[in-house]
Amino acid sequence: MNTPNTPNTPNTPAGLVWDLPVRIFHWSLALCFAGAWLTAESEYWKLWHVSFGYSMALLVGFRLVWGVVGTRYARFSQFVKGPAALKKYFLSYLHGAPEHHTGHNPAGAWAILAILLTVMMTVATGYASYEEIGGDILSEIHEAMASILMGIVVIHIAAVILTSVLHHENLVRAMFTGKKIIAPGEAIRRSWSIIALLLLGALAGVWWLMFR
Ligand code: HEM
Repeated sequence: MNTPNTPNTPNTPAGLVWDLPVRIFHWSLALCFAGAWLTAESEYWKLWHVSFGYSMALLVGFRLVWGVVGTRYARFSQFVKGPAALKKYFLSYLHGAPEHHTGHNPAGAWAILAILLTVMMTVATGYASYEEIGGDILSEIHEAMASILMGIVVIHIAAVILTSVLHHENLVRAMFTGKKIIAPGEAIRRSWSIIALLLLGALAGVWWLMFR
């Protein structure tokens, strides 16, 4: 369960929270988004831009499945909460006792859903403009979606830094190592490296198909 728990103390051990597929998904998505953004304006880099887009589609498709069948903290059912939990979370900051969550907090959860949805819409409109379906309006929507996504990502990064400072917990490092200081019994048991390898293989397949 994603019940708010007490802030970490130095005496509790580090345990695995993010499995390897979640971490590979996250940093690949961040890299692909940066790559797609940087190659967006140039005809010369078009194939790269489109390949980054297809890779993002694959990553989000994977994450939707992993959000149902994945490990404890990767599951949507574990971290997606309604408006009441969101309100309670924000109020906890106002009351000076911020709720701590081992997995994603309720605000982060909504940002994640917004990112996944915006990526899907950006990729879909990008694909349509690449295939010259739908005319100029779709390529304009594509550019607008990409800008909205950039806005959400900036808020996401600022929120991650702020939460890390407020909870004295390095969330960025945790997204690399998968580990956080948590209470006994809260860790996941397996990192599912084989699934992460399959995901990387599928990504390599996208790039091979595009550049062969
Ligand atoms: C330097 C850039 C970035 C940093 C430092 C960063 C950091 C993080 C961290 C620490 C988390 C876990 C938050 C938590 O503990 O609840 C996270 C989650 C997430 N971030 Fe980022 N992020 C970055 C860029 C991006 C970008 C560019 C995207 C999308 C285009 C993105 C999408 C996501 C998603 C979807 C999750 C949820 C992960 C999952 O459960 O699968 N991030 N990020």
